[in-house]
Amino acid sequence: MTADPRLILPLDLPSTAEARQMVETLGDAVSFYKIGLELLATDGMALARQLKGEGKQIFLDWKLHDIGATVERSARVLAGAGCDLLTVHAEPQVMQAAVKAKAGSDLKILAVTVLTSLTDADLIEMGYAFSARDLVARRIRQAVECGVDGIVSSPQEAALAREIAGPDFLVVTPGVRPFWSAKNDQARAATPADALKAGASHLVCGRPITAANDPREAALKVVAEMAGH
Ligand code: C5P
Repeated sequence: MTADPRLILPLDLPSTAEARQMVETLGDAVSFYKIGLELLATDGMALARQLKGEGKQIFLDWKLHDIGATVERSARVLAGAGCDLLTVHAEPQVMQAAVKAKAGSDLKILAVTVLTSLTDADLIEMGYAFSARDLVARRIRQAVECGVDGIVSSPQEAALAREIAGPDFLVVTPGVRPFWSAKNDQARAATPADALKAGASHLVCGRPITAANDPREAALKVVAEMAGH
């Protein structure tokens, strides 16, 4: 058995050397990697280009959020890196700028609707008149209107996203935990099968694999759980 292209492994490691080592360990069990702010703050883009050159798919988790002109210029540079997915915050000006910038490239834009660390009380404190779920639904509709390719959402919101955005929209869900692994700090986790059944197109699953004694075997177990869904 080899990689399932719907499984994305976040390289949440302190250095690109350790990330590189993890990629070697996983071998053909994982074909899609997410590079987040921690590595992007050092030489994460160089690692992204290198892995892309080796045939891997790359998700750049930049979570861009700035004025439209700056997002457009930055997203254009990132589109030139030849990667596959890029996150931006789900504000209409930001999403429109990113969609404009990626034209003509293979890059797909994912919108981050509402950070899952925010509660309804936090949103009121920040001046929003919506619950988290209502704000997520509103932003999914806006994401579709802006022409972004998909969203990042918890498995709990995957069905809502699928209902609003239809079958072709990318729904990328972190918070995936096989029944045999620890929940860590993921409070609202779902198993790989349940996340796919709820409508996820891609699963982000990190520590159940990277913290396992045998990461390659753990990745293959997740791939086996995804099969048939
Ligand atoms: O190790 P674990 O499977 O929890 O990793 C999940 C990844 O998805 C991490 O890179 C984390 O930052 C990211 N993420 C998340 N929850 C969100 C958005 C992103 O866990 N709501």
